[in-house]
Amino acid sequence: MEFFLPNLKTDRLVLRMLSANDTFDMFEYARDYEICKYVTWNAHESVEDSMAYLNLVEERYKNGEYFDWGVTLKETGKLVGTCGFVNTNKTDSRGEIGYVLSRTYWGKGLMTEAVRRVCSHGFEFMELNRIEARVFPENTRSQDVLKKIGFCYEGTLRQQQLIKGKYQDLMMFSMLKNEFR
Ligand SMILES: CC(C)(COP(=O)(O)OP(=O)(O)OC[C@H]1O[C@@H](n2cnc3c(N)ncnc32)[C@H](O)[C@@H]1OP(=O)(O)O)[C@@H](O)C(=O)NCCC(=O)NCCS
Repeated sequence: MEFFLPNLKTDRLVLRMLSANDTFDMFEYARDYEICKYVTWNAHESVEDSMAYLNLVEERYKNGEYFDWGVTLKETGKLVGTCGFVNTNKTDSRGEIGYVLSRTYWGKGLMTEAVRRVCSHGFEFMELNRIEARVFPENTRSQDVLKKIGFCYEGTLRQQQLIKGKYQDLMMFSMLKNEFR
């Protein structure tokens, strides 16, 4: 059976599977250096970069077990970001969440809405017990999103990952199934 992600709805958003049709919307935000400062990937230089990434996502969907949603505005259908699990560990019922939102839409609470919905799906339907997020210490906007939802700051993992040529400190946040409201 073909792998698929269910659509997840919130007041203002529909989270749905990504496809190559999202290339132009994705390039519109992924070309922005500001949003790539605190993520592992580099800003897209051309629409071909966005297309190549979306082709990779489609391949990952085909292989199954890839849980990344396109974040679209309910009113217009426009893709404004992504939110989902960058990795999952079945043995430990654990998932790590990652997200990005077009800068045009910051400051409206949209990503808080998306992350909360993805967490709810993770706990309810993916049988996760723990959802974690690793965040750059400078990325206070992302920390605010997690804190608003009720994630707990556990500590800073020192020089935990080599990102863009630097061993990067990352703050570990987590939410457990029995804590999620
Ligand atoms: C992390 C990121 C998604 C946060 O975006 P954001 O717009 O700050 O987050 P939200 O969409 O949840 O919006 C929260 C803001 O909306 C405001 N807001 C307005 N209406 C709101 C509502 N109904 N509900 C909640 N917040 C609301 C909040 O007060 C807050 O504003 P403030 O930062 O001025 O206090 C964004 O900065 C981003 O894409 N960064 C680059 C990628 C990245 O860092 N990803 C995370 C890697 S760990």
